[in-house]
Order: sequence, then C-alpha cells, then structure tokens
Amino acid sequence: MARRAREHLRDVDANAPEHWRIGGTRFEDDLHVLLMLYAADEAGMDRLLHDHSMLAEQQGLRVVHVQQGRRRHQPGDPPGYFRDHFGFLDGLSQPRIEGHKDPAGVPRDYDRPVKNGEFILGHLNEYAEYPLSPCVPERLDLADELPACPGRADWKDLGHNGSYLVVRKLEQDVDAFERFLDEHASLAPEGAPEDRREWLAAKLVGRWRNGAPLVAAKRGPLHRLLPSLSRREKAKPPLVSPVSTKDVDNSFLYGRDDPHGYGCPVTAHARRCNPRDAQPPSRELSTEVTRRHRLLRRGFNYADDSGRGLLFIALNTSFGRQFEFIQRSWVHFDQLGGVEGAEDPLAGDGGGRLVIPQQPVRQCVADLQRFVTTRGGGYFFMPSLKAIRVLAALERPAPE
Ligand code: HEM
Repeated sequence: MARRAREHLRDVDANAPEHWRIGGTRFEDDLHVLLMLYAADEAGMDRLLHDHSMLAEQQGLRVVHVQQGRRRHQPGDPPGYFRDHFGFLDGLSQPRIEGHKDPAGVPRDYDRPVKNGEFILGHLNEYAEYPLSPCVPERLDLADELPACPGRADWKDLGHNGSYLVVRKLEQDVDAFERFLDEHASLAPEGAPEDRREWLAAKLVGRWRNGAPLVAAKRGPLHRLLPSLSRREKAKPPLVSPVSTKDVDNSFLYGRDDPHGYGCPVTAHARRCNPRDAQPPSRELSTEVTRRHRLLRRGFNYADDSGRGLLFIALNTSFGRQFEFIQRSWVHFDQLGGVEGAEDPLAGDGGGRLVIPQQPVRQCVADLQRFVTTRGGGYFFMPSLKAIRVLAALERPAPE
C-alpha cells in the first residue's frame, strides 16, 4: 500500500506514507504478514497475543507492530454494527453476495446480490471473469487440496475461496469535528442548537448518527413515515432523524429518491463512496457501474498512545478496481456534481469546500478542515483454510 499510496490513493502531505506508524515506507515498517486475533474480552486477547507471538517468533517471524481494536456500542444500537469515534453507526451498507445467505438483521439492500467473485477469489465477478488470484505450481499442493488455476495448466489456485484485505489506520480528530459542528451549526435552516449540530453532522457523513438515511427510499421505512413528501418538504428534509436505529434502511437510491442532494448532499461521505444510481448518464448504468466498486467493510475502533480512530478493514478481489478506485476517483474527486473544490469530509485531504444543496440557495463552507489522517495501512492476501493447510505442509527453506 505504501508504494501505491501517492499515485493510487493520493496519500500526500500529512497522509503520506513517510509519516505512517504501520506499513509505511521505512524499511522497518515493511509488513509481510498480518495476523488478526479475535477475543471476547481483554484476558482472552492477552492469552491469544502471548501464545501467537511466541509461535511466530519460533517460526522466525518478528512482531513489528501490535494494533488493538474494539467495537464501541451505544445502548439500543442494533447488533452487528459499531459507533465510530465521531458517533456514527458504522458498517451499515454492505453488499449482499450471490449464493450467500444474508446474516440475520442485515437491512434490505438497494441492489441485487453482487457476484461472489467481487469478494471471493476463484469465482466469477461482475465482468463474468475470474479475479486475478495467486497460483502455485501443482507440485506444491502436496495433498492435492487446491482446484486448478483457471487458464493455467499445471498450476493450482492458492487464492480459491480467499480474498484480498485492505487495512487502513485512520486517525479521527474528534475535537476538530465537534468544533466544526459548533462553529457552523448556523448553516441549518432552523432548530435548537443541538439539532442544528446533528443536522450538519449528518450532511457531512450522509447518514444521521444513529444510522438512519437522509434519503427517503420509495417504499422504504422512512418513506412510510413521510407518506406525503412534497417537493417543498424534500427541499427541507427533517432536522432530526425521524426513524429509530431499529429501522436502519439501505434500500434507498439517490438518483431516484434524491437527485439534487437536498436530503443527502452529493459530496457527503457515504454518497461519494457509493453513488448508487446517481451517476450520469443513466440510473441503470450507474447501478451497474457502482456494483463493480463495492467493498465488504469490517472496521474497528482503536484508541492508543498516538490517538484514536478507525481501523478501516475491507475485503475485495481487486484493490485497483474496488478500494483504490473508491479512494482515488470518488473520495478525492473535487468536481463532483458540478461542485468545484469539494472534498470528502471524512476520507479526503482536508481543505476544499463543503456544499449543502438547499432551496432557495445552497449552503457553503469554504475552508473544510481535516478531520481524518492516515496513519498506516497495508494490502494483504487472505488465504482460505485449505490454502493455509497447503502452506503449512510446505517444508521450511533451510536458513541461508
Ligand atoms: C475515519 C474514516 C471514516 C469514517 C469515520 C467513516 C464512516 C462512515 C459512515 C458513518 C458511513 C455510513 C454508514 C454505513 O453505511 O456504514 C460510511 C459509509 C461508507 N464508507 Fe466510510 N468512513 C471512513 C473512511 C472510509 C474510507 C477510507 C472508505 C473507502 C475508501 C470508506 C468507504 C465507505 C463506504 C463504501 C461506505 C458505504 C456507502 C454506501 O454503500 O452507502 N469509508 N462510512
């Protein structure tokens, strides 16, 4: 990731890999293996960490960094999600995957299930092609566990049923975010001071802090609560979230339900990262195109000596077409919707403009500041269980 950061992710200035704390450009930061350990409590984690560090060192590995993470929750939040440090329910919009049952409680998606080759190697993707997968010579598959490598005789597909993992350590400046809300809450058309702050926060991110969308999906729960949404009311969306977190909805569309961004601004974080049906030239084409740029997100919160933030974790089968495309072409696109100089308020560079479409005139803040700074990251191959068995059966090379 560090090597691709400047050109493919536009990690520059404070975000540049020279300043990263994990996976940066300094030789000692170079990561070769990522081991993810999960435990229900601190004691369980300490045990796992101790045992696996010992095992790793016995195998000649050196532990270069340990990053703790956990998921913050608020009372009443639906299970399976977490609150990021800015207080937003996170991890809501996830693609459904063809051939896989949705886990319980997953909200209805706005799209048909995505081909599993978008997230799992060795299966057809949305181009009806097999994603690029690491293959090994047949002789290394000692117990004949792996399937053949598509299109390569005498090679086996080590990637089959695995995936590629993106990890980013993103520091969140919570004080700056809250200060910004205080300073600019007057942008809200009306309401009590606290409601105005919440309104602005939602316009930056593209959802209310409790996860409710800013867009009333036709036939969705929000729409049922607002059955007579007139054009004028759309121009004045509610100042406080009208639904509870129990009704978290993902079935809304932007092109159909909110083409001008009066509900969710075109430049808001969630709308940028997935414009759904709102990209020109047509809603159908837009849905088809955005289907090729989706991520399975599995983030965590962290808080350590260096600060606090999000451990952004996502799975895809093409770093270039999925994660990097979103970061480079959508997050950093500063001409979005004809709005010159507007940046993603969460994942962008800082600076730039914030534009909130409203009637009769849009609202604008000229000097959007940086709320999030990249502190590290890496790209990893996540092998299937079979692939791990194959790797484990290989003989260790003799020391040089
Ligand atoms: C500290 C940084 C970030 C924070 C606090 C953050 C927070 C959020 C929140 C609150 C949502 C809306 C709820 C949801 O659907 O889960 C969201 C959606 C999303 N974010 Fe981020 N995010 C961050 C960075 C990123 C980055 C770096 C990317 C990728 C380049 C990204 C990609 C997405 C995507 C794909 C969605 C779902 C959009 C949709 O399908 O509606 N986020 N994020």
